[in-house]
Amino acid sequence: MSTLKVSPGILDIAPYIPGRSTAEGGKRLIKLSSNETPLGTSPLAIEAYRRLATELHRYPDGASHDLRDALAAQHGLDAERIVCGNGSDEVISLLAAAYAGPGDEVLFTEHAFAVYKIAAQANGATPVEVPEAGLTADVDALLNRAGPNTRVCFLANPNNPTGTYIPTSEVQRLRDGLPAHTLLVLDSAYAEYLHRDDYADGAQLVDQHDNVVMTRTFSKIFGLSALRLGWMYAPTEVIDVINRIRLPFNINAPAQAAGVAALGDAAFLDSAVAFNEKWMPWLEQQLADLGLKVHPSSANFVLVEFPDQPGQSAENAYQHLLAQGIIPRRLDNYGLPRCLRFSLGLADENEEVIAAIKAFRERAD
Ligand SMILES: Cc1ncc(COP(=O)(O)O)c(C=O)c1O
Repeated sequence: MSTLKVSPGILDIAPYIPGRSTAEGGKRLIKLSSNETPLGTSPLAIEAYRRLATELHRYPDGASHDLRDALAAQHGLDAERIVCGNGSDEVISLLAAAYAGPGDEVLFTEHAFAVYKIAAQANGATPVEVPEAGLTADVDALLNRAGPNTRVCFLANPNNPTGTYIPTSEVQRLRDGLPAHTLLVLDSAYAEYLHRDDYADGAQLVDQHDNVVMTRTFSKIFGLSALRLGWMYAPTEVIDVINRIRLPFNINAPAQAAGVAALGDAAFLDSAVAFNEKWMPWLEQQLADLGLKVHPSSANFVLVEFPDQPGQSAENAYQHLLAQGIIPRRLDNYGLPRCLRFSLGLADENEEVIAAIKAFRERAD
């Protein structure tokens, strides 16, 4: 054992468990464990990425100017109030590093995205998990728990892994009820999938208040997970703070170029939305028809509850599917041991998943 001293709290962190990407069995792999898109990446983005192959000896633009301009134009935002991150994971970590430290509390919901807790602990802050109501963020519970030490409140809307969302009116009520010294971080990683009148990504709240930040990602509907590209829209003061602590060249050049090109491919985005809107209800219905409890989703994945019975449990289903080369996400570490999460696959993959679960259920009956 060395005499090196690790900062307080670091060794309490349970490391992030990524979605599994290998399986046993000779079958082709159907990876449904990381909420990636099955549709690949815009051909324009791939082309932009390739073009950068001859420029790898140059540092990237440290301020991601073109990408921020493209994001601002696309969303009607102020480019000066956008910061890009190495995935939205980096943005989340930077926000925690800037605003939460020892003695501070970081709030999030009971089944929130796992990185919030890690980000809080990494900075010596106290993570506070607030109970949900019906697997959905409970604004009253969050407001009741917020106090003088609450520095950051993370809310994924829709949330991963539950797939639930709260309407704009509830997000506004949360914002209005939180202490002025609490930064409300609205994580809208799945916003592109949700088109409802009562839902908004949070950009407008950022414009209206000095303690609200919205985070977004290119990892989901844009299919750029491998490049690690995310961003945030924030008040000027927060932008200034984050720009002081982020690494100078945090977004590599191919990622910046691919991001700009992806934003320019409206047809790819539209067809991805249409695909999700067609297949998610199909998947949910098929799973329900197999007698499973399906939690309705507002994103590109679905949370499915299995009976807590020997031979029929989530763990049994997971092992059965894995043997077929199908990889859902186990959720023990999210406090949902009876559930599996399935990202939406291609049409034939979805059909294969349903056939495999049907066989499992018939075997278990
Ligand atoms: C709610 C939520 N926020 C953030 C992320 C991180 O995304 P990124 O790939 O941009 O780091 C994920 C990824 O699964 C997510 O589900």
